[in-house]
Amino acid sequence: MLLRAIGLHLSSLSAFFALTNGIPSSLPFDKRAELDTWIANESPIALSGVLANLGPSGVKSYGASTGILLASPSKSNPDYFFTWTRDSALVFKTLVDQFINTGDTNLQLAINDYISAQAKLQTISNPSGSLSNGAGLAEPKYMPNSTAFTGDWGRPQRDGPALRATTLIAYGRWLLNNGYSSSATDIVWPIVKNDLEYVAQYWNQTGFDLWEEVNGSSFFTTAAQHRALVEGSAFAGSVGKSCSTCDSQAPQILCFLQRYWNGQYVVSNINTNTGRTGKDANFCLASIHTFDPDAGCDDATFQPCSPRMLASHKALTDSFRSVYGVNSGTGQGSAVAVGRYPEDVYFNGNPWYLTTLCAAEQLYSALYQINQVGSISITSTSLPFWQAIYPSAATGTFVSSISTFTSLTSALKSYADGFVAIVQKYTPSSGALAEQFDKSSGAPLSAVDLTWSYASFLTMATARNNAVSASWGAGSANNVPSICSTSSATGTYSAATNTNWPVFPCTTAASVLFAFNILATTSVGQNVFVVGSISELGSWDPSKAVQLRADLYTQSTPLWYGSVKLGAGTRFEYKYVRKEADGSVVWESDPNRVYTVPSSCRAGASVGDVWR
Ligand code: NOJ
Ligand code: NOJ
Repeated sequence: MLLRAIGLHLSSLSAFFALTNGIPSSLPFDKRAELDTWIANESPIALSGVLANLGPSGVKSYGASTGILLASPSKSNPDYFFTWTRDSALVFKTLVDQFINTGDTNLQLAINDYISAQAKLQTISNPSGSLSNGAGLAEPKYMPNSTAFTGDWGRPQRDGPALRATTLIAYGRWLLNNGYSSSATDIVWPIVKNDLEYVAQYWNQTGFDLWEEVNGSSFFTTAAQHRALVEGSAFAGSVGKSCSTCDSQAPQILCFLQRYWNGQYVVSNINTNTGRTGKDANFCLASIHTFDPDAGCDDATFQPCSPRMLASHKALTDSFRSVYGVNSGTGQGSAVAVGRYPEDVYFNGNPWYLTTLCAAEQLYSALYQINQVGSISITSTSLPFWQAIYPSAATGTFVSSISTFTSLTSALKSYADGFVAIVQKYTPSSGALAEQFDKSSGAPLSAVDLTWSYASFLTMATARNNAVSASWGAGSANNVPSICSTSSATGTYSAATNTNWPVFPCTTAASVLFAFNILATTSVGQNVFVVGSISELGSWDPSKAVQLRADLYTQSTPLWYGSVKLGAGTRFEYKYVRKEADGSVVWESDPNRVYTVPSSCRAGASVGDVWR
């Protein structure tokens, strides 16, 4: 809340400067104010959207175990009712940063649950392998009840362990800084250690990319692996351990990372033959994930403001100008809807919310770095990017005291805002974020309530507010060895068994978002409601009952669900009722169900009932 207020203040200030400097911007003043308002409104929706998909008590997580985060509640076309290691790690990195920034102890409990669930998932043998030699750690997804998914899939995906290590390390640092060093050492480190050893052992082998399609080497994966080993080594030191394989492999991974640069843009998949240009939002997600607020515009670690990453941004965004109807007529320097890669055919190939938001976030992060550095160096590599948003741009170094710097940064901010404005335009008024939006009509498409879409909104908003997360040490890990060697270090793996979290001081939730889940087989025209003894549940009046939703209903899991905000500690009686097409009401059999809303630090609770 506090952060959001500061962010609003900062961004309206910069809009003010843009105006007073008379600089042309793609978003005029009133549009920016509108965007600020929309972001402020969407932020709590996005956070609830994430938490709704977290088991066991998220509103849309019926069937997911404790700490298991669903990719989406969608069970068909597409079926995303699984937990992905990548999605979960990226989303929880967002939640860890939010917890550190806001002190929201409800989030902390979710983080602890997530970490405990990961300790278990690491031990689950699966089609990628098992923990004994680490191979099972790169399994892309698991069932919502934490068992293995045994169907065909693009596996292994070697980004997962690296991303998870980064997320756990971010929380581990908080534990260390706040007097919980034994939790960092005994709970977090053993999980992180397995993931680091995995990366050190397997980084040099091909696997499936983050889009689960290409078997080869993926820039996103390599970049995430480099980051994990660099901060993994430092984290090991801070819990009194060491990670010698991190130290030996990290420089080699950085060496390999350079191979993706073709002189003009990052080619996202190599060691494979995709028949594609290689322009892919893969690089953008890597840039925001490996953003280091202290690193400057470093090309070697591909920082958001580096000439290489700005050039890649232009190459990618331009590639979508002609392929999506929603982008038709956009000229150089105006923001576009961004997809995964221009050749994409998944759901016919469309823009995605999370990639369009990435295009914005990279630029906000770049702006932050540029302001830290206090100058902009335009090179022949980045010149076309700058000229697109500021036609008179030229190569050279522009320090912050001169007006060119102000003009360039103002153009950058406006351009970044343009991408968010596109997402705003194609977000329904409910604020719900699916996976994609239709390339012609702009209508939401594919998986509904994609957890990663919501998280990408939150990280964008955080970057726009300049609320950066901690450095991972990129600034001192950017020495590229002169000769790359294809190396690897065999790891040792063991189950992380300690998940005994201490009782952290926390704020008791005054109200609880209470999720009702009821399995009730119904036919067309029938609807299920919950009615009960308290006014929130209609005081036993069926005409005031709370209607439940059937959009997650399947034949095997005939789920009706809904949620109501209830006061902590409230004791109530309730029953489900079915309303027939003709309006008549069928009550469940006696006795009444009874529940007492927990009074704890958790802001969510749920029941899972079966119709009687
Ligand atoms: C499902 C994957 O999750 C998605 O990324 C991919 O594009 C499709 N399968 C088609 O391969
Ligand atoms: C398909 C996406 O391509 C992939 O990146 C993601 O992990 C899964 N869907 C789940 O959201």
